[in-house]
Amino acid sequence: MKIYEVKDYQEMSRKAANILSAQVILKPDCVLGLATGSTPIGTYDQLVDWYNKGDVDFSEVKTVNLDEYKGLDKTNDQSYYYFMHKHLFDRVNINPDNTHVPDGTEPDAEKECARYEELIRSMGGVDIQLLGLGHNGHIGFNEPDSSFAKVTHCVDLTESTIEANKRFFASADDVPRQAYTMGIGTIMKAKKILLVVNGEAKADIVAKAFFGPVTPEVPASVLQLHSDVVIVADSAALSKIPR
Ligand code: F6R
Repeated sequence: MKIYEVKDYQEMSRKAANILSAQVILKPDCVLGLATGSTPIGTYDQLVDWYNKGDVDFSEVKTVNLDEYKGLDKTNDQSYYYFMHKHLFDRVNINPDNTHVPDGTEPDAEKECARYEELIRSMGGVDIQLLGLGHNGHIGFNEPDSSFAKVTHCVDLTESTIEANKRFFASADDVPRQAYTMGIGTIMKAKKILLVVNGEAKADIVAKAFFGPVTPEVPASVLQLHSDVVIVADSAALSKIPR
């Protein structure tokens, strides 16, 4: 596990975008595993900036997103499909047919999760998976006590995640109760993992996840077992790690 300590959010975003664009330059038809949430927005902005300057070309890139709310369609501005188009896909020369997000409108969870898992497999797996970190240690929508073995599946969101995500909806009642997510088993199959995290509010969970025991109680702790993980974190997020 390699940890890059950076000054602030802007530096974190630049470093993460550097790592992702290096992947695209080395393998133009790579498979990027992508995340939503507030942490990676600056990373996507930086990639768009470099694309506009002619430094990164997304024409052959393929993407698979970690997760999607069950029940939200593509036009819903809280869907992760909408988020990805707004922050990245509509701003660069990626072929929309090469971008994939679980289909939140498919009511048959088993069918959709099996389709998504097979899709990732058929693309040759994920070359680099971008992750954010939940306050409770979740990655994707894999909440505490998720099995490490699970592949793409449907989850019931925990109260703490509903609480954290309600800021994006009119009220907590409007937050979907379920989501489709790559499982920890899916995430761990990615060839490389890039986790971005910033801010003091995540300092406790960063220390627990990456310096504490590997346990399903802290889903991100499983990343300690992956052979190629890069964490890009600002000093505030690293303020509680043992030195
Ligand atoms: C996003 C995702 C989530 C977030 C996590 C952190 O696709 O799967 O696990 O990465 O909730 O979110 P932020 O970045 O908003 O703190």
